[in-house]
Amino acid sequence: MRSRTRERKYATVIDKTTITTELAQVTDHWTPRIIGQVNDQYVKVAKLLGEFVWHAHENEDELFWVVSGRLRIQLEGRDEVVLDPGEFFVVPRGVRHNPIADEEVEIVLIETVTTAHTGDVVVERTVPIERQLRS
Ligand code: NI
Repeated sequence: MRSRTRERKYATVIDKTTITTELAQVTDHWTPRIIGQVNDQYVKVAKLLGEFVWHAHENEDELFWVVSGRLRIQLEGRDEVVLDPGEFFVVPRGVRHNPIADEEVEIVLIETVTTAHTGDVVVERTVPIERQLRS
């Protein structure tokens, strides 16, 4: 019988870890790294620098939790949100947003396994989910 662990595509089920340890293994900006799965949600870490791209996730909320640095999230139809370390914000589904990191920002992301990080747009920066899964 196949264990549930083997059905998952990453190796975080057995060992405990820290966010800092996981972030240390991220080398590229705007390239989320999946560090765990909680039911239908992925937990990811990422390093951001510069401006991303305006996009929306039609059916999925997206949590940004800042570990270090300051993240600005421009939002269509409302004031931008500025997040300092320890602060988090959930971008509601359907709301167009554009994350901006004026200096390097380290974040934790929680989003549905089906979420494409560039949402409804595919750009050069779009990283397919297979590349976000750690081996
Ligand atoms: Ni997004």
